[in-house]
Amino acid sequence: MEVFRIRGGRKLEGAVTASGSKNAALPLFAASLLSSEESILENVPDLSDIRFMAEILLEMGAEVEKTGPTTWKINPSQIVPCAPYELVRKMRASVCLLGPLVGRLGKAEIPMPGGCVIGNRPIDLHIRAMQRMGAEVELKAGVVQVNAENLRGNSIFMGGRHGSTVTGTANAIMAAVLAPGKTTIDSAACEPEITDLCAMLRNMGANIEGIGSHMIEIEGVESLRGCRHRVIPDRIEAATYALAAAITGGEVCVRGGRLDHLGAFVNVMNACGVRIDAQSENEISVKTNEDGLRSLEAITLPYPGFPTDLQAQTCALACKAKGLSILTERVYPSRFMHVPELLRMGAEISLEGASSIIRGGTPLTGAPVMASDLRASAALILAGLAAEGETWVQRIYHLDRGYDAFEKKLQGLGAEVERLPESEMPSAFGAQLS
Ligand code: EPZ
Repeated sequence: MEVFRIRGGRKLEGAVTASGSKNAALPLFAASLLSSEESILENVPDLSDIRFMAEILLEMGAEVEKTGPTTWKINPSQIVPCAPYELVRKMRASVCLLGPLVGRLGKAEIPMPGGCVIGNRPIDLHIRAMQRMGAEVELKAGVVQVNAENLRGNSIFMGGRHGSTVTGTANAIMAAVLAPGKTTIDSAACEPEITDLCAMLRNMGANIEGIGSHMIEIEGVESLRGCRHRVIPDRIEAATYALAAAITGGEVCVRGGRLDHLGAFVNVMNACGVRIDAQSENEISVKTNEDGLRSLEAITLPYPGFPTDLQAQTCALACKAKGLSILTERVYPSRFMHVPELLRMGAEISLEGASSIIRGGTPLTGAPVMASDLRASAALILAGLAAEGETWVQRIYHLDRGYDAFEKKLQGLGAEVERLPESEMPSAFGAQLS
């Protein structure tokens, strides 16, 4: 296994480019199955989750080829409606295969997505959407079996206990585009990743209205053609670099950063003393105000609310802001695995239900810490950039799921971060942790 060694204290300066969006690209790979013709996806990030998805499509009979550093070609002319358990269990996003298989083949057999440290990941809303379109759904030995010979359009309500569901909305849309008749999807997720999916589907010949809103209307068509589609930039990656600039008191330009993709995040940053300005439609500049960081408050909500995928990273920033900050999780109420590790670095954080209360201002000190999930990994790295001394982040395979060349991009901004074999960690640390 590999670790990151970070020497903190450097202000990050310069420009960095966000890769294509992981959470857009994964459903787009699935959407390519809706046509029997070849599709090309451009600006795809180089991530382990993408390679997983490619492997799953290969196992299902599609021809999948990486034809360039960020370009993939998918030819799904011959596919079977079932995905391999060994691969699906590793990645929740593989649940996005349900919609296109049901839409194109009238059936699907997808293992229930695996558990996840960030909290409960049910798919009841996905299943209810399929049932509304006439599908029969059974859960047998951990496999979701869908039979939908007579799929038809219908009215669907996607709202759940925690608001809308992103991959649930993606599945409903992908099942509906080939279903005869009209489908309305009320309380649809309107994350930019859903908008990007609808753009690709329109490009394939789908008939979709209300894109970007909570009410999507679809008229089913006979078939869809292959297409060429460019994935939108990763807004969570872009915002993570903005936070890296803020936590080190630096000044950074993020190419691919779009104010219209960041929703409430920009307001929360402005309120705590971090200026985020648009340099163009696809580039933002980030700088902390002269009088430094102020304490912050944020509640995570579906888009355009504050993104849950930025909650852990923002908690690291709050450790630097004098005063009490409060971060409340309304999407994944137990998404606080980063907190015990930040405490090891001297942070003062308490958890009250679905809220973390951060007493910021005491300096962070470097320490050996353990990544637990994708966004917690990023939070620990950000904390290491601001900490005095050396921070060793272990299990960075979590990071590699969703951040493309993270250490190289941070090095480009002046950070002292290195990817090393775990054996390089000082034995003293190893002893403490074993
Ligand atoms: C997507 O997950 C993202 N993943 C997640 O990013 C992100 O955190 C999440 O949306 C919320 O923004 C991808 O797009 C691949 P949900 P998704 O279904 O769609 C409840 C990352 O770090 N719910 O929107 O699987 C659920 O319990 C990852 O990049 C139901 O109740 O999440 C949760 O509280 C982590 N029933 C909320 O909705 C359902 O059937 C949001 O879940 C489905 C969801």
